[in-house]
Amino acid sequence: ARTPTVAMTRADLEAARAALPSRDVAAVMTMGALHEGHAQLIRSAREAHDHVVVTIFLNPLQFGPKEDLSRYPRTFDDDMAICTEAGVDLVFAPSPDVVYPDGDPGVRVSAGPLGAVLEGAARPGHFDGVVTVVGKLLHLTGARSAYFGQKDAQQLLLIRRMVRDLDFPVDVVAVPTVREPDGLALSSRNTYLTDSDREVALCLHRALRAGAAAATLGPSAVRRAAREVLVEEPLALVDYLVLVHPETLADVPEWYRGEALLAVAARIGTTRLIDNSPLVVGPA
Ligand code: PAJ
Repeated sequence: ARTPTVAMTRADLEAARAALPSRDVAAVMTMGALHEGHAQLIRSAREAHDHVVVTIFLNPLQFGPKEDLSRYPRTFDDDMAICTEAGVDLVFAPSPDVVYPDGDPGVRVSAGPLGAVLEGAARPGHFDGVVTVVGKLLHLTGARSAYFGQKDAQQLLLIRRMVRDLDFPVDVVAVPTVREPDGLALSSRNTYLTDSDREVALCLHRALRAGAAAATLGPSAVRRAAREVLVEEPLALVDYLVLVHPETLADVPEWYRGEALLAVAARIGTTRLIDNSPLVVGPA
């Protein structure tokens, strides 16, 4: 496989974009520390489009003052190997001053009310930072399609909302969560887990599976089944476990039937993990 072109400045990106033979460009946006989940996004984009541009940018705007920006893993050489292997054409890896030349942007995209619940409640301002950078990277890359992981379901929803609400001419494509053989959802933050944390972390997927297995019985059965798994694991400090409507993120009422999202967030050791399972509630 050919090594992708690397652009670090706006001018390099512009030149590299212009050099691509086709305008059919899909974007995969990342913060680096690439793993098989990112690789799957790239492969899905690759299959459907002439070119794939991967952005690697650790976006300071989406990290709170007490969050893990400084300890976030930086593995550029390994990231490039994964991009080469997966058939990426162009990697845009700007520094913060390239993306934010005037420092903190005074004008930002607001994620709105859906950005204030679940992950947004735990991380104030996080989703404004996400949708702002995603908007900018869509403009800068000129991509007409962008691929995002179901792993970050609320992020995916908010990016869909931004594209729809602000008329971005972009097709947003969701890719199912990639997991380890034992069920743990791949995440760049898994590298923070000790061996014993990692054992504890498996309860998230076990809880989601238990909840999904009760889906035909209705919302309270789903919540109860998932909760029962989590209470067995006192070392997982659960932030939320919810069964919500996939578009409004509101708790679904007991009479609800149809598509729902079972989502969980928990702190394990020093690491906060999230996972979710889309499911259909009601008789099969
Ligand atoms: P990052 O956490 O690096 O994730 C980049 C993309 O990979 C996101 O779309 C995420 O949902 C997807 N992804 C991560 N783990 C996955 C898994 N196990 N299976 C499938 N997809 C997975 O999400 C971000 O970066 C940032 O917020 C970003 C969108 C780049 C904006 O800064």
